[in-house]
Amino acid sequence: MKTQYIGKPVSRVDGLAKVTGTAKYSADFKVEGMLYGYIVSSSIAKGKMMSIDTSQAMALKGVLQVFTHENVSGLPWFSIKYKDMDAPTGSPFRPLHDDKIVYSGQPVALVIAETFELARYASSLIEIAYQEEDFTTDLIKNLGKSYKAPSGKIGFVQPKSRGDAEDAYEQAEFKMSGSYEHGAEHHNPMELFSTTAIWENGKLTVYDKTQGVSNCQFYIGNVFGLAYKDVRIISPYVGGAFGSGLRPQYQLFMAVLAALELKRPVKVGLTRQQMFTFGHRPVTTQNVALSASADGTLESIKHEAFSETSRFENYTEIIVNWSGTMYNCDHVKLKYDLVGLDMYTPVDMRAPGAVTGAHAMESAMDELAYELKMDPLIFRLKNYADEDQTEGKPFSSKELIACYREGAEKFGWTKRNVEPRSMREGNQLIGWGVATAAWDAFQMPSRAKALLSIDGKLEISSGTSDIGTGTYTIMTQIAAESLGLKIEDVTFKLGDTNMPIAPLEGGSWTAASVGSAVKGVCEDVKKKLTKMAVKTDGSPFYRADKHDLSFDSGYISDVNDSSSNISIVNLMRLAGVNSIEETSTSGPNPLNKMKYTFNSHAAVFAEVKVDEDLGIVRVTRVVCAVAAGKILNPKTARSQILGGVVWGISKALEEESKMDHQYGRFMNHNLSEYHVPVNKDINDIEVIFVEEKDDIVNPLGVKGVGEIGIIGVAGAIANAVFHATGVRVRNLPITMDKVLQIAEDDKNQVAVQG
Ligand code: MOS
Repeated sequence: MKTQYIGKPVSRVDGLAKVTGTAKYSADFKVEGMLYGYIVSSSIAKGKMMSIDTSQAMALKGVLQVFTHENVSGLPWFSIKYKDMDAPTGSPFRPLHDDKIVYSGQPVALVIAETFELARYASSLIEIAYQEEDFTTDLIKNLGKSYKAPSGKIGFVQPKSRGDAEDAYEQAEFKMSGSYEHGAEHHNPMELFSTTAIWENGKLTVYDKTQGVSNCQFYIGNVFGLAYKDVRIISPYVGGAFGSGLRPQYQLFMAVLAALELKRPVKVGLTRQQMFTFGHRPVTTQNVALSASADGTLESIKHEAFSETSRFENYTEIIVNWSGTMYNCDHVKLKYDLVGLDMYTPVDMRAPGAVTGAHAMESAMDELAYELKMDPLIFRLKNYADEDQTEGKPFSSKELIACYREGAEKFGWTKRNVEPRSMREGNQLIGWGVATAAWDAFQMPSRAKALLSIDGKLEISSGTSDIGTGTYTIMTQIAAESLGLKIEDVTFKLGDTNMPIAPLEGGSWTAASVGSAVKGVCEDVKKKLTKMAVKTDGSPFYRADKHDLSFDSGYISDVNDSSSNISIVNLMRLAGVNSIEETSTSGPNPLNKMKYTFNSHAAVFAEVKVDEDLGIVRVTRVVCAVAAGKILNPKTARSQILGGVVWGISKALEEESKMDHQYGRFMNHNLSEYHVPVNKDINDIEVIFVEEKDDIVNPLGVKGVGEIGIIGVAGAIANAVFHATGVRVRNLPITMDKVLQIAEDDKNQVAVQG
């Protein structure tokens, strides 16, 4: 069928609101009589508060209250009440619960005043006496205390081994082994976390920055003992989140607490520094060992990962499992352990786990290719997995070969010299690297509501969110397409618990999940209209065969004769119907899920230029070829991949939250010292979407593109750096000092051996 809107580069329907400033974010909501909160953070990493003196702050005119563990009561004792939909196993952190300090930056007091400035000033007058205890925040130093990562977090699956990888590794002719380290990262969205809470007539209305209004409703209801129906969470726009908004953040708790206690509207936001105090992409160390026979057949894969978590929760993500699925190999040994440290629990960050695991595995594949003296792309193709060997299932679709082919062609891969340090431009060493990426194509149960009015306008709503991904736009496209309406006549609304329930916006599953619900509900409306068309006396289709009707641009017509038609508006008038309202639920097909593995894939090609004398790495070109099923909107989808690639460059070369282990605190907790790329760091990025038809994954055939774009980038860059310099930096970010140091070490080693 020819499509009108699906697959078309429709511009963002929320674009005008955003660029003109009419789009309201959580901190933009103002109400009469609003109070402002400022949060005081712990200055120690572990111990106890012996005393907390708020008298000077309280003495200021305009300060209404300072909430601390000493004056907050009536909250649930059991930590299970603080569990949210994205919580890992363990006991969630409870703000202002007791005198214990469990991490540096922990919120210990909330000052409420008539103005923000006053609250902030008053917070500086609070004196806390601490008794410090020994703590440790260093993953590498505590590897001996690791334990098996438990199951229980949404999306987490235990790694599965097969065959005898140890033995196969011993026997093999060609092998490599390496350890790969990743520093911590913080999400750092432009918009800071902020909550406005209003308590009125026994009802709570909360404007919050979140990736899941229902999750916040559930959390607030449980923590404060309120009926869910009395808690309304609203979040129409989110200025970036990247996973940080999957869990309710502590300013939400704080704002609601104060609003309930003081019976006044309260706004509480975090500072940029406090954005470094609630979860991050965890530090990990990974060991990978691979072996192959002389013809390049992978004989064994060993991949183990150690990841940090807090003492109170077991944050898990899928790091090593991908290595068992990406390539054909009969002997695979996977392991994933956690180490509890005195810090806050890590939280999902764009492609959690996959980014980390793929960097190690794809670097290792590159290393083994050099051992084999094989082109790294040919080596990957040699071991290409047509089926998911981990689960013993076919993929619903997998056009990764097309990604390799189209990506390589666009990049000019065949012109690559295999030898490292063999391509240069003056003192710039040129390197080309490739890496592969995979991500899950999830679908979660979702609901959507349709309201078609007599004026021909359709309003669709679902309590999902749009963190900048384009949800507003693609849902509008799906609805217009499904019901044959002009796109201008469709409005999509989201981000309100009064709307039908949707899952957290994460895991790249929103397009498939909410999209299927939107399509489903529009089809229900279409059925009603069809019935109306054939049952209403005076309609051109009165007593006609309902299969012969088509919907286009607000008209219902005969598929064989478009001159016979009626507008939806006229039909509704004729039938005496003022509006049509439908709500429906869509979810994954469990049978298909049992039979198939659903994955999206990508191949990333990167070019770097490395200053031979200074070790400065520049990424000059990236081609990212993606197979993610049907692309609903090539414009917004491309932006998702571009964003992923930019972040991948950042992760490979710049980004790291540095922990000062003496204080147990992240040192560079601001945007001047937390390095991210600027325009000058970003050069050519080419995005390719390969054709991938998938009738199994979900009714729309979409796999989601929020995360697949970042996954292979760091590996491709690391491999390109090796190709350019002959220096293998296994520790991210690849900064100039590491490039030079390893080059120096290699030289010395050669000298010693020579
Ligand atoms: Mo994403 S880390 O699931 O927001």
